[in-house]
Amino acid sequence: MTAGISVQHLTHRFAGAPPVLALDGLSLEVPQGRFAAVVGPSGSGKSTLLRVLAGLLRPSEGRAAVDGHEVIGEPGGVSFMPQRDLLLPWRRVLANATLGAEIAGVPRAEAHERAEVLMERFGLSGFEQAWPSQLSGGMRQRLALLRTFLMPRPVLLLDEPFGALDAITRREMHAWLQEVWRRDGRTVMLVTHDIEEALVLADVVYILSRRPGRLVATIDVPLPRPRTARDTTTPAFVELKARVLDALEGVTPPEEPRAVPSGQRSAP
Ligand SMILES: Nc1ncnc2c1ncn2[C@@H]1O[C@H](COP(=O)(O)OP(=O)(O)O)[C@@H](O)[C@H]1O
Ligand SMILES: [Mg+2]
Repeated sequence: MTAGISVQHLTHRFAGAPPVLALDGLSLEVPQGRFAAVVGPSGSGKSTLLRVLAGLLRPSEGRAAVDGHEVIGEPGGVSFMPQRDLLLPWRRVLANATLGAEIAGVPRAEAHERAEVLMERFGLSGFEQAWPSQLSGGMRQRLALLRTFLMPRPVLLLDEPFGALDAITRREMHAWLQEVWRRDGRTVMLVTHDIEEALVLADVVYILSRRPGRLVATIDVPLPRPRTARDTTTPAFVELKARVLDALEGVTPPEEPRAVPSGQRSAP
């Protein structure tokens, strides 16, 4: 069977003085229709990995494919939600929501119809004609997620999609995302800092080391679904959480990680 996401010996070095080795020989394979999470410290190359898979960044070495197609240097093959929301300030909420679908060739009327149905689920109904600047941080993030969902692609890449949401909204989104994913069967790769979020949502969790990002553990999550915040207190969940923490511990020095200056990042 074709893998949903396949990465082989992926290495990426950002040019500069000194150059930054962001990913070092990463290989992984996510079967079609499965939900994968990628967890790692800040700077471990998580966003770099997703940008390679989205065809936006050409890696120094290695191969990457989604749904059996090589994706290096080929943008447009996946639904991608970058870490920054990239909403267009001159488009109203509904027009922002349909943007990805329109670019992917979905007729405008159909994209609007599908977006309107999802507005309520995403807690955005009533704001269809608002401007992005009138939304709260959480609403902007939900809008960016909605836009990503509307792109008709078999693989969904989500870069810390719930980071700006309060805990209650985040739990609602977890329930909702599991339900949508169960119904539409797409392969998902979700990047998160939050171990519990990874274990509530994913079938498999990949743990990356501190920079340069290397795969240090692959942890299967065989817990029944749907999973809720209540499941985080079960012995099986706590045991998995301990395994993730141990894997991270093995690579995390005791001192506080140094913050990455935001100026080092380029636009995705
Ligand atoms: N455009 C860039 N130029 C130079 N260094 C970069 C660039 N983008 C990311 N980096 C560096 O590469 C490393 C990995 O970054 P990133 O993939 O954003 O990590 P994560 O998403 O895991 O926090 C970091 O040290 C970061 O500073
Ligand atoms: Mg990142």
